[in-house]
Amino acid sequence: MKKELQNLRNKALKELARVKDLSAVEAWRVAYLGRKGTLTQLLRSVGQLSAKERPKVGELGNRIKEELQTALQARIQELEKEAQKVREAETLDITLPGRRPPQGGLHPVTRTLNEIIEIFTPLGFSVYEGPEVEWDRYNFELLNIPPDHPARDMWDTLYIAPPYGKGQDMLLRTHTSPGQIRLMQEMAPAPLRVLIPGRCYRYEAVDPTHEWMFVQVEGLAVGKKITMADLKGVLSHFARQMFGEELKVRFRCDYFPFVEPGAEMAIECFVCHGPGCRTCKYTGWIEILGAGMVHPQVLRNGGYDPAEFSGFAFGMGVERIAMLKYGIEDIRYFYGNDLRFLSQFR
Ligand code: PHE
Repeated sequence: MKKELQNLRNKALKELARVKDLSAVEAWRVAYLGRKGTLTQLLRSVGQLSAKERPKVGELGNRIKEELQTALQARIQELEKEAQKVREAETLDITLPGRRPPQGGLHPVTRTLNEIIEIFTPLGFSVYEGPEVEWDRYNFELLNIPPDHPARDMWDTLYIAPPYGKGQDMLLRTHTSPGQIRLMQEMAPAPLRVLIPGRCYRYEAVDPTHEWMFVQVEGLAVGKKITMADLKGVLSHFARQMFGEELKVRFRCDYFPFVEPGAEMAIECFVCHGPGCRTCKYTGWIEILGAGMVHPQVLRNGGYDPAEFSGFAFGMGVERIAMLKYGIEDIRYFYGNDLRFLSQFR
């Protein structure tokens, strides 16, 4: 009997040590110490022993019972501590920084375009958009560029098949200048001041400064008594707002069939301020746009009488302005859709 009690004790303690949670502990308690538990039953049979054996075995049995009860309480406490630890590890640490959702931003070309628009709107310019798919008439003929005119070589054109015949060809606009005609035809004979931004397309060999698709902003002002001085004043103001108050600007003759006289505008190199560097290709000057006084024939095509009205127009490449402003070396970055590039402009 003593042996039996000892074995039972050892077995019980071994099992208790292996028990993993509180409900298993309860099962263990029921199995050994419960009313029908093995120890309880064994102790009950002590009464059948001889009077000589009874006290000793009884005492041992009670000791074992107490030992098991103590062990049970200890195990319960242990398991509770462990459970508490697990709970603590699992709880929300509100001091951890949150996870930011990925944030988008405006494309650098959009940002630059917005900056350009913000400089011109206080001067009274509003914004108008024309179609990217254009008629030959608007892209060329009404801008004083007849079919077969050598000036067409200035714009390598993507035509849309099939050809509709002379003067009716459809194409992807090569510049935003057709917007000049569309706008004048819509507004004549009212004076106007407008910016025409949008995508343009050219059949280009792509390289660091040429893309087959790019964005231009056209500017057009038509009214009575508009002169070259207005053109120079407005564009100088723009360049200084965009690149720096103190910058010198330079106007030189240039040729575009839809302006007379035509000009190109350059700003003093804002990197080297004169002596020459990589940014200005060692000339000290950076060309930023083409411009001129609207050609009388173009005014007429737009519905204005050149005896009464005059105007100036300009056109600039938005990527080029952004490249200068942000020091971007290759136009292809703009349309490579690489977030490592794009996310620098948030
Ligand atoms: N449309 C011309 C170009 O793309 C730029 C320009 C616009 C020049 C308006 C003069 C006046 O090259």
